[in-house]
Amino acid sequence: MTSTTPVAEKTALTVEKVGGRIGAVISGVRLDGDLDKATVAAVRDAILAHKVVFFRDQHHLDAASHEAFGRLLGEPVAHPTVPSVDGRYALGIDNEHGGRANQWHTDVTFVPAYPAFSILRAEVVPPYGGNTLWSNTAAAYAGLPEPLRVLADSLRGVHTNDYDYAAVRPDAPTTALEQHRKVFTSTTFKTEHPVVRVHPETGERTLILGNFLQKLSGLNGRDSRALIDLFQSHVERPENTVRWQWRAGDVAIWDNRATQHYGVDDSDDHERTLRRVTVDGDVPVGVDGRRSVLLAPESVPEPGYGIASGASTDGVLAEA
Ligand SMILES: [Fe+2]
Repeated sequence: MTSTTPVAEKTALTVEKVGGRIGAVISGVRLDGDLDKATVAAVRDAILAHKVVFFRDQHHLDAASHEAFGRLLGEPVAHPTVPSVDGRYALGIDNEHGGRANQWHTDVTFVPAYPAFSILRAEVVPPYGGNTLWSNTAAAYAGLPEPLRVLADSLRGVHTNDYDYAAVRPDAPTTALEQHRKVFTSTTFKTEHPVVRVHPETGERTLILGNFLQKLSGLNGRDSRALIDLFQSHVERPENTVRWQWRAGDVAIWDNRATQHYGVDDSDDHERTLRRVTVDGDVPVGVDGRRSVLLAPESVPEPGYGIASGASTDGVLAEA
């Protein structure tokens, strides 16, 4: 841990970096829907600066206060296909029901305006394993040699929720995983994003890759895969990542526009129950000013409650 830095005079809030390029622990804050504006601003600034921030001992949070806190960062949005566990916005991430996320990904990139922030709360953690890793995709871009930055700037890629699960999951799927997949892909989405987006709040350039990326536009399958693997290898460099060992009551908040993450599937059959609230993002804009385009379906279906992630699709439908 590095030195403690007070960032808000009126609060006891402190931010301690846990990695050189990504991750910080915030102390002195009790998360809820009534936080004062100065504290919310300090938390938001810390997320933008450190990409993922961690809070310990937030045992008081439940589905309602988790959502109420999320509302201070933006408009909560429902997952486009997976029903919530509370009838509102809480997504269950539960290893009993196929919710293992052991692939590097950015949440919900198969829709145009994928979430800006994800807020993940640990209810039950396993006695060992089940850590989550995050990577800083702005640092990954900045670390590319100049010719690769120029190449990345010019590329666009198609993201889908109906990717080839068998190819990326060599372990045979269990019944629970198959069931999860059926729900996850109940509507097939395809969205073309720039490979490099200009972050709407920080102005940084970040990479949009991860396991929903199916292929790069205009390239054949082999060239596409080789380039995706090349750029993704920079995202996965350990120097660009942080690894978090969960305790019950922990909350992690990440800037979903500047990170990828990976849930390590190594806690055997022990229970691991987390709850996620996401808040709405905006349509990515590439270095050349071109926005992301929704290729399918023609419109985003209404979720069971509230508005769907990616619902901000005005002007991003593919031209017929
Ligand atoms: Fe995720």
